[in-house]
Amino acid sequence: MNEESTLPAKNIILVGFMGSGKSTIGRELGKLLSYPLIDTDSQIEELERLSVADIFSLKGEPHFRNCETQIVENLIEQGLTHHIIATGGGLPVKEENRPLLRKLGYVVWLDANTDTILERTSRTNTRPLLQTENPRKTIEEMLERRNSIYQDVAHLRLQTSGLNIAETAHGILESARYFFGHS
Ligand code: S3P
Repeated sequence: MNEESTLPAKNIILVGFMGSGKSTIGRELGKLLSYPLIDTDSQIEELERLSVADIFSLKGEPHFRNCETQIVENLIEQGLTHHIIATGGGLPVKEENRPLLRKLGYVVWLDANTDTILERTSRTNTRPLLQTENPRKTIEEMLERRNSIYQDVAHLRLQTSGLNIAETAHGILESARYFFGHS
């Protein structure tokens, strides 16, 4: 087998819980590397011509999850390379999506604690899964279920709660360069 074909494409994929900073860090990485940023939520919104919240309420979460898989499959089929991809927080939950993400590139888990997530996500009401009576409890329960999933899919885990944007982006860059140089 051609060794090149076993290497993941040179994209950086950001995974992690809602409010972990995927879009912000994605933009910063995009600037540093001059790579375009793809946001899977925005791609689904374009495809469906609806906001994420409306897709959940009008078409249901399973439909949204199918769109997520479709988007990732499309990116692989296109042979996408040299992009930053910010994923929706639930995208790796579907087991079949995990090998697809690793095939697409270097997968970085932006980890954040409950307080940070709560603080960041309470600024907007655009996330249907957090519109509950007790968002802190919801976040804690979801993190408990999802952390092992993020761990499973990621090549790198980065705790972002105490770090600033530039530090986080530089940490990712350094590890990604090493990974692509040595994998
Ligand atoms: C979700 C995360 C959201 C969005 C949708 C569901 C999740 O994306 O895909 O509301 O299940 O964690 P962000 O992680 O960008 O907020």
